[in-house]
Amino acid sequence: MTTAAEPANLRLGDTAPDFTADSTIGKLEFHKWLGDSWAVFFSHPKDFTPVCTTELGEASKRLPEFKKRGVKVLALSVDSADSHKKWTADIDETQNTKLDFPIVGDESKQVANLYGMIHPKALDSFTVRTVFIIDPKKKIRLTMTYPASTGRNFNEIMRVIDALQLTDAHKVATPVNWKDGDDCIIPPAIQDPEELKKNYPKGFKTIKPYLRVTPQPNK
Ligand code: BEZ
Repeated sequence: MTTAAEPANLRLGDTAPDFTADSTIGKLEFHKWLGDSWAVFFSHPKDFTPVCTTELGEASKRLPEFKKRGVKVLALSVDSADSHKKWTADIDETQNTKLDFPIVGDESKQVANLYGMIHPKALDSFTVRTVFIIDPKKKIRLTMTYPASTGRNFNEIMRVIDALQLTDAHKVATPVNWKDGDDCIIPPAIQDPEELKKNYPKGFKTIKPYLRVTPQPNK
């Protein structure tokens, strides 16, 4: 395991720190493993626990949806890789899946500390439920942190990936509760009529000068 032992205070736009760690697929060199993919890197508190079992099962079942979006999935807890392997059999059995993404074993807590995944005032020394969405330039694009008692919403994780990939490719933003296929927002900075015509060929509606909506450009 090789990392700089800096305390974590990771923010959007930061480069996701590199590390080398043991995992269920053997030694995992994070940046090398990422390649030029997007990634969802998420921590769970502990192996052989109920909420975590349902979350890992859900992530596994949705792997084709992640793959379709060019997203790799990586999980972590402060249990060993051997423990993760044993637990995986239970996840497969109870969640009706065949888990096929790596889980980092982090008994030393080095990766957990590097990513700020331990929140001692919420949960002594285990990882809480953090999520990092990382883009192909290895920049952190979203962070979420849930308590141990609340399982995450993978619809939301998928929704944010869709929104990030859309807004990277087109000059739009996404409104409240947006989901793939819904109307999008035109950034107020874009005012030039020629640019508006070029960027939004489907047209747009002006509700207020700062609030303009256009059909999703890639649909
Ligand atoms: C769970 O996954 O069920 C869990 C794990 C740690 C603390 C509380 C719940």
